[in-house]
Amino acid sequence: MLKIVTIVGARPQFVKAAVLSRVVGKHKDVEEILVHTGQHYDHNMSDVFFEEMEIPKPAYNLDVNGMGHGAMTGQMLEKIEGVLEREKPDWVLVYGDTNSTIAGALAAKKMHIKVAHVEAGLRSFNMEMPEEVNRILTDRISDILFVPTDTAVRNLMNEGYANIDAKIVQSGDVMQDASHFYAQHSESKAKLPIEKRSGDFVLCTLHRAENTDNPKRLAAIVAALNELHKTIRVLVPIHPRTRKLLESNNLQLNVDLVDPVGYFDMIELLKHCKIVLTDSGGLQKEAYFFQKHCVTMRDETEWVELVEHGYNVLAGADTALILSSTQEMMSKSSDFSNPLYGDSKAGEKILEALQNFEK
Ligand code: UD1
Repeated sequence: MLKIVTIVGARPQFVKAAVLSRVVGKHKDVEEILVHTGQHYDHNMSDVFFEEMEIPKPAYNLDVNGMGHGAMTGQMLEKIEGVLEREKPDWVLVYGDTNSTIAGALAAKKMHIKVAHVEAGLRSFNMEMPEEVNRILTDRISDILFVPTDTAVRNLMNEGYANIDAKIVQSGDVMQDASHFYAQHSESKAKLPIEKRSGDFVLCTLHRAENTDNPKRLAAIVAALNELHKTIRVLVPIHPRTRKLLESNNLQLNVDLVDPVGYFDMIELLKHCKIVLTDSGGLQKEAYFFQKHCVTMRDETEWVELVEHGYNVLAGADTALILSSTQEMMSKSSDFSNPLYGDSKAGEKILEALQNFEK
């Protein structure tokens, strides 16, 4: 029996974990124990994903949230160590680049438990982002690195991974697996009223610390969205972080604001929107999976292949550039058939590599 402890905590990790959990469910000789750090805890930031995507209920919920980075990561480390002492798994599996990711990897590595990192090798080259620190450190202490893209392999090679004792497996992107699978079921299961997800609209999300925690950037983005909403409906499912920071900075977002949405609603929004405007990593890719152009409100991206192929454009937090890029991308037509993110079999490839791993 192969025993895997999977650590999740933040919204995009629930989506990614759903893919592997579904594959594990087909294998009687594999046991997966899901640990939820508690980083995201609101119903519509967490539970709704477990319900909709039929992810097994976590065996542990560590209830660590709402603190500074040090306290949050520290408490997670301590609690995850306790779980690992009890469960003694063969593998600890972590996803992406959040504080839950680094806490899970570090706790495991110090106990000499093998670490698998899904979505490895991505870089923004901006060390002020907490995510960049988390992903570099997690990669370095992982035994197996599941990379989604050619760029990610190149990034690792540039950092000397040819001489580092870690196995690199190009699995493709787990989020693509999820998009393809759940898109077949989303229409009948979406909960947002039909008028929210039809007609002409721009789908926008905004939550990155580099934007929300910088009042100048936040104000410039708000100005762009308010201006754009005068010509086309801008639908913003608003992250709790952003809601709080808009209030504390006295900024008024005059757009179509809704609470954070579940996965099926997000898929329906992606299917029907004109264009995506975002500072999220995952949504940039999801836009592409649903053949939509994207304007990214950041100065850099980990998904450079989308920019290289003209599907995505970086507009930073510059009001005029966000507006002109949106106009430009809305009138563009592209061929979205490039297989940039693998063949939607990432889940199977990941499990197979864990089962057959030899040092
Ligand atoms: C985290 C990740 C980010 C990821 C994002 C996805 C880190 C460093 N950042 O950012 O990479 O893109 O998740 O959403 O791990 N809050 C609630 N309810 C919730 C969750 C959060 O109210 O269910 C509020 C809390 O006030 C919290 C704040 O949002 O302090 C920020 O949450 P946190 O988990 O620190 O980071 P995110 O911004 O969600």
